[in-house]
Amino acid sequence: MALQKTDKIWHNGKLIRWEDATLHVMAHVIHYGSSVFEGVRCYAPPSGPAIFRADDHVQRLLDSAKVYRMDVAFTKQELVAAMVELVRSNGIWPCYLRPIVLRGYGDAGVTPTNCPVEVYIANYPWGKYLTQDDSGVDVCISSWTRIAPNTLPALAKAGANYMNSQLIRMEATTNGYAEGIALDVNGYVSEGSGENVFVVRNGVLQTAPLGNSVLPGITRDSVLKLARELEIPTVEAGIPREMLYIADEAFFTGTAAEITPIRSVDRISVANGDVGPVTGSGQWAVGSGQWAVGSGQWAVGSPEYSSIGLIIRPAPLTTDH
Ligand SMILES: Cc1ncc(COP(=O)(O)O)c(C=O)c1O
Repeated sequence: MALQKTDKIWHNGKLIRWEDATLHVMAHVIHYGSSVFEGVRCYAPPSGPAIFRADDHVQRLLDSAKVYRMDVAFTKQELVAAMVELVRSNGIWPCYLRPIVLRGYGDAGVTPTNCPVEVYIANYPWGKYLTQDDSGVDVCISSWTRIAPNTLPALAKAGANYMNSQLIRMEATTNGYAEGIALDVNGYVSEGSGENVFVVRNGVLQTAPLGNSVLPGITRDSVLKLARELEIPTVEAGIPREMLYIADEAFFTGTAAEITPIRSVDRISVANGDVGPVTGSGQWAVGSGQWAVGSGQWAVGSPEYSSIGLIIRPAPLTTDH
């Protein structure tokens, strides 16, 4: 989906014109991939725009920056407030938000410390990712291995990690698949190019642990929390590749992909290829503002979203939650 321009972008504490949010070609980030970023969705329930788990996304951004010794001049609260200000100012929701912290213009060498740390936030309309229909996607195991521990840190959502993601994704789409799933350096299932992976087998919901080179997905975390509340057994343990072939159900989670059923892996159908009862029950209904079941830490607003009684909603568009 082509990028749709908006009026403003937030830059280091100020709203600037979209056209003015430019970088010099000699900025450090352009040569060495020195950025960390987030992808966040703002939904549009009747109660008004609501940024999904805004604090948690900003916390992950700050964690990513810390790993790379980037000193961010803004607090978590200030960055959450900045997202809110931007959404309001551009007047666009639902939307996707893209906060990014990067090393700017200053020094040409690898050492980043003489380059200013800059923060930008953009928001823009963005629809569904991976597929437009609900019947799921056909995926492959990538021939590319996910970044190994102690190479590029997988817990940080760094721009550089996405060179690996691009290889996975281009290979998959070139070969006619919607997405690729990478194995980790030991051959266990890691993640998709931009999603975490879940399988269901004999009623147990399983996903790769953080040690298998996965991003600590906010959606992954939400699904695990919800599953526990729904008393669905969950396991975070290494998933052998062939488990994807014999699983009863499989699905991706991610801000972009939300909950996307996986219909087949390497042309082997997952069960009979239909969306399974756990994946498709509606209890993870992430789209259109219906998000997630649970008891309350993110629960705000009225109960009209509840399909099965308990709903965690995205945080409302306010800074004081
Ligand atoms: C590599 C990768 N894994 C997993 C995810 C899912 O994370 P989240 O649910 O926080 O969007 C993403 C998306 O940001 C991703 O890029």
